[in-house]
This record gives sequence, structure tokens and C-alpha cells, in this order.
Amino acid sequence: MTTVPFADRARVDAREKVMGRTAYAADVPLPGLLYAMTVPARIAKGQLTALSLEEAARVPGVVRILTADDFPPPPQGGGLPLPPTLIREIAYRGQPVALVVAKTLEAAIEGAEAVRATYADQTFSPLIDSTGAAHEPFAGVEVGNARLAMETASTSHADTYVSPAQHHNPIEMLSTTAQWSGGRLTVWEGTQSSGPVKTVLALMLRLDRSLIDVKSPSVGGSFGQKGAFQRQTTLVAHAAMLLGRPVKLVMPRAQIFHNACFRPRSRHHVKLGADAGKMVAVQYDADHQQSRTGDFPPFYHEATVQMYGIANYLGTASNIRIDTQAPGYMRTPFPQPSNFSFESAVDELAYKLGEDPVAFRLRHDATIDPLNGKPLSSRFLNDCIREGARRFGWERRTAAPGSMTLPDGTQVGWGIGCGAYKSMTTPSLVTLRVYADGRTCYAASGHEMGQGIRTAIAAVLLRELDLDPDRLEILIGDTSAAPQHPTAGSSGTASVVSAAATAAAKMREAADALFAGRVLSGNLHQRLFKVRRPYLEIEASQVGPGQDPSVLDALRQGGFGPWGPQYPSFTAFSYIAHFVEVHVEPRTRRVRVPRVVSVVDCGRVVSPRTAVSQVLGGVVWAIGATLREETEVDPRFGGWLNCDLADYVVPVNADVGDIDVSFIDKPDPLTNTIGAKGLGEVAMAGASGAIANAIYHATGKRVRKMPIRLEDLL
Ligand code: MOS
Repeated sequence: MTTVPFADRARVDAREKVMGRTAYAADVPLPGLLYAMTVPARIAKGQLTALSLEEAARVPGVVRILTADDFPPPPQGGGLPLPPTLIREIAYRGQPVALVVAKTLEAAIEGAEAVRATYADQTFSPLIDSTGAAHEPFAGVEVGNARLAMETASTSHADTYVSPAQHHNPIEMLSTTAQWSGGRLTVWEGTQSSGPVKTVLALMLRLDRSLIDVKSPSVGGSFGQKGAFQRQTTLVAHAAMLLGRPVKLVMPRAQIFHNACFRPRSRHHVKLGADAGKMVAVQYDADHQQSRTGDFPPFYHEATVQMYGIANYLGTASNIRIDTQAPGYMRTPFPQPSNFSFESAVDELAYKLGEDPVAFRLRHDATIDPLNGKPLSSRFLNDCIREGARRFGWERRTAAPGSMTLPDGTQVGWGIGCGAYKSMTTPSLVTLRVYADGRTCYAASGHEMGQGIRTAIAAVLLRELDLDPDRLEILIGDTSAAPQHPTAGSSGTASVVSAAATAAAKMREAADALFAGRVLSGNLHQRLFKVRRPYLEIEASQVGPGQDPSVLDALRQGGFGPWGPQYPSFTAFSYIAHFVEVHVEPRTRRVRVPRVVSVVDCGRVVSPRTAVSQVLGGVVWAIGATLREETEVDPRFGGWLNCDLADYVVPVNADVGDIDVSFIDKPDPLTNTIGAKGLGEVAMAGASGAIANAIYHATGKRVRKMPIRLEDLL
């Protein structure tokens, strides 16, 4: 395997983006377009008993109002958390009860506000400690004998850590535009799962899959929110079919809070036992808020069991079912809360032992997956920790909390937090066509959500083939171009770049065969021109290590989830170490984060620029998640209170200091031909722990919940 670093290419879509020319799903211009608006339920639970539509129908411009009567009963089962059509049973505040379609957006909004609904209320459980919250045990993990090891451990630490409900706030709102024309349904939607959206639409609308195209050309932020099937999709598609005209809905932000998936509140009771300077036992009980029918799993042990090679680990997990919309994936879905909890607990244990938190962690390297004894494909966490400590200047740290106060009274704290995230792959099908006229068309699975996946694909193709970089078209997120997998869980780049490398190798072979025996000058396009071939096309496919090639059929039939991190002969994780400096103002207790150093082991770095951006984004989000963000519930009414960016507080530029990002950049020998592991999610893992640990070091105050706000440090 070559170890030549990839070139740092500018983003292929940068110019279009900053010119405002990138077309998102809601930007598609369609003649005769109608506008839709949903009517949200005003109760937290119960039954819709009547809808009065007369007033809404009289609003000039209103074309049609869809209600539950317009939809067939939703199919049962199928793993869908809530039937994404209109139904009379209200499961959460804000659930759509009607869809108003009008000639203008203004008329749609006015019409939606004029719809009168009456309900039969039921009692509901808004919080995980409300009466009626249902505790449901879920599969946990067990390695060794944690109870026995804990009993014999010389030192232990136990406490409970809490992560709040938090909501996605993408720049691009959830939206769907649908057109029914010539017997085909075309749906434009910002989604990271265009293949699965096609499948679910077919199911909900009882339409043959082959008649549906889903297009998600560019997504303005996704991070799991746009991986779930969206609440409005079927409503808008059905309206377009009923009316025979294209229909668009852009969901207002307040409704996104109520309808889209979110990070559920979770609780983490962590007990750690140490003996002879090493952690030997973990007993960790995790639970999280769940909707009544939701299936977002409490996989909180997935990363923590892999962190430090601890031989005895007993992890339990539970759902706490309450009356909310279905929670779901949100950047670093499990390690964000669990590594905050675990890394806080490790820090507390290190202090109890009188150990330096960096030296303590370095003593816990691992080479095997404790769950199955299989080798780890690669692990350079200790290199991340050592390099991070060096870049940060950790040796200048004084251990005692409150010992690094500045002359003006500002309390300075330095903390470390580490993280891991599974490295998965998805199968890919690719068509690559190189034209004599200078164009190249690459069609494959994948979604561009701002992470720079097109840039990563271009980096591979332009390194492997002699192509015109200015005329390279990368068609992804479009079910009519290639079968689409969900691009999620940091499987995207590692999967698509190895598929691109495979396709490039096949193209080189095809070109060699075509030009056999002839010496031609020029790039690939020019050589095709010289032999009078208009174009050369190859098809390529890629499956994960040890994966049965029959998954390619599953991919053709509707999208296929990621494979890994437990592969047949190894386990693959990415790792990160974060070092954080906080400044706590002595009177107001305002926390600033002037400096972060993050060092990542994500295998080979394919696109240095977009890789750095992923980590910057993960760290900024961790600053938000740790110090700012919480979606709050008024238990009298259910639903969410702070449903806009004025009240749901996220970091602004002034909250973000210097973030120094670097990579170990050692190729993983087993995961794929390029040697890349996942990056997006691991970027955020453990950063919240590092911030909380730095706050403890600054103030001597251990805050075991997020967000950590002024009032927690008084
Ligand atoms: Mo990931 S939860 O698909 O950002």
C-alpha cells in the first residue's frame, strides 16, 4: 500500500457554493409549483376528533386541504417508528394533522392557521421521570466478570452523568418537492438516504419502486437528522399525485423541532474499578428517552467498551418510553453522551488515584476487540494522546484544580477527553464514463451533505486517472443515476473512496486494453479522441471486507445499511484525543474555550481539507453540546419549548477559539483498499468530556451533566 499523502485539493463545489448557485432540494424550479404547509397538533397525546376546514378553504389561493381521510391506512410493522402519513391518533405535540396546499406560500400559511381542530385529550408522560414512563430493558454487553473484578478492585469511582435532549438545527430546513408526471413520481429532498426514501415511499403510497426517483443532489447539513424518513415526505408526494401538480413544502424551524429526530435525553451511571494503576472493571447502566413506538437503540456501550481494553465490563441499557416524537441519530449518536460520561468518570478516577489523566490513559492501550477477541484493524489512540499532549504543552500543566489561575482571577483549566467511533463501510455500485470531449461522468452511491464527499471522490479519481479536473461530474444522491445507500455513521468517505479507487483501476485496465500496443500522448480524453472513441465506460462494485456480494442486490432493491465495525476477521474503530483549555471568568462564571488540540486516527486521510473541516465542526458542536444546547419541555403541555435559534442557543464565532487539528494518517491495512477509516462522528467523540474535565481542573467543580452553564459554577 502506498503511503504517499493525498493532495490537498480545494473543494470541487466551493465556487458554486459561495456564489449561492448550489441547488438544494427546495431550489428546483418547476412550472405550476404549489406550496404546502402542515397544521401541527396542539395536544401532546390523544385523538383528533374533528377538523373544521371551511375557513381555511375560503383563503384565496388555497387549492386543497389533505387530512387523514385522504390517506390509506398505513402499513403495519416494517420497523417504521410512526406512520409517516396523516392519522387521527396523536402521539406527540406538533404532529401534522392536515396539509394545506395553495398557489402561494403565504396562502398555504394562512390556510394552515385557519384550520380548526378538536381533540380528545389523553394523559401523557412528557419526561423520563413522569408517571407512565415505561422502562424497557434493551440488550447490553458483558465481558469478563465485572462484579467480581469490582469487588477486588482497590479503588473505584461511581456517579451518574446526564446528557440532555438536543436538536439538530441545519441551515437547510427539512423540505420535500414532489412531482407526479408521465406516470412517475420524482421527489427532491435533502436526505442522506435517497435509496431508503424511495423504498419507504413505495410502501406508503403503494407504488412500484421502479416508478419513483429520489434526488438529493446537495444537502445543507444532515448529521443523522436527514437520514431518518422525514415526516413530510409522504404527505407532499401524495398531494402531488392527487393534484397532478408539483408541490413543495419547507418545514418551518419550530415544526422541525417537533417532527424531526433529535438526540434523546440519556443517563449514564458509570462505576469504574482500578487496581495497580489500571482500570480493571466497568459497571455501566445507560438509559435514554424513547418514544412509545420508536426504535433508536441505546447503543451507549459500543464505543466505551472499546476505549481502554478493560477486561471486565458489564453494560446495561434501557429505553424509557414517553410521549414524544421518535428520537434518532444526531452527530456521534452514542459516543457523544457516553464518552462525555465515561471520560468524565475516568478523569474522576485518575484524580482519586493521584494520577495524571494523560499518563493514566496511556496505560490502557488495546490490540483486540474485547467483545469477540478479534484483532483491531488498527489503533493509534496512544499516538493521538502523545501527539496531542506535545502540541498542547500538557507537561506545563499543574495538577491541582484551581492551580492555574491568571493574575486577573480568571481560572484556567486543562482537560483531556478521548473518543472512539466504529468504522463502517457500505456497498457501492459505480458507473464511470470518460468522454473524448473532455468530460467525465461518475455516478455512484453517496450523499453530499457538506462534508465534501464529491471532493474526496475527485481526489481519488484525479490521482489515479489523467482526467480534466474542470469537467468532472460526480452524480450522487440520485436514485436514477445509481442505487443509493444511506450515507451515515461515518461510512461515507471510507466507502465511496475505495469504490472510486476500484472504478479507477478498472478504467485504467480498460484504457490499457483499448490502447494496447500504441503509444499515445495526452490525457485520457485526448487519447480516446485519437483512437476515435467517443467515450469509454466501466461499471464497478465494492463490498466491505468479508461481505457477501449478494448485498449488491439488496442495494439495488432499496438501499443497504452499513457493514461493520465487527467484520468477520477483525474490528475497526477510529480514535481521537482532545485537549481543551477553558477560562472561567471569576465573577460571572462565563466559560470560554480559547484553545483545543485534537489529534485523530482515522486511517489514511484522503482529503486533508475536508477532513480538517469535519474535526473543526465536531469540536464546535461539542462546545455547543457541552456549554449551550438543551431542548426543554414544559411538562404541562409536552412538546418542546425553545424551538428557534433565539432560544436554542448554539455557539457563535466568538465562542470558538483556536482549534488545532492533526492526523496520525497511518493507513488501516484491513478496512479497504485506500486504508481510510470513518472520520465524521469520531471528531466529536470525547470532546465534551475534555471540556468538562478542563472545567473541573479550572474550578474544582465537577459538573456531571450537560449543558454546563453559569449557574452550575456559582
Ligand atoms: Mo451521522 S448520526 O449519520 O452524523
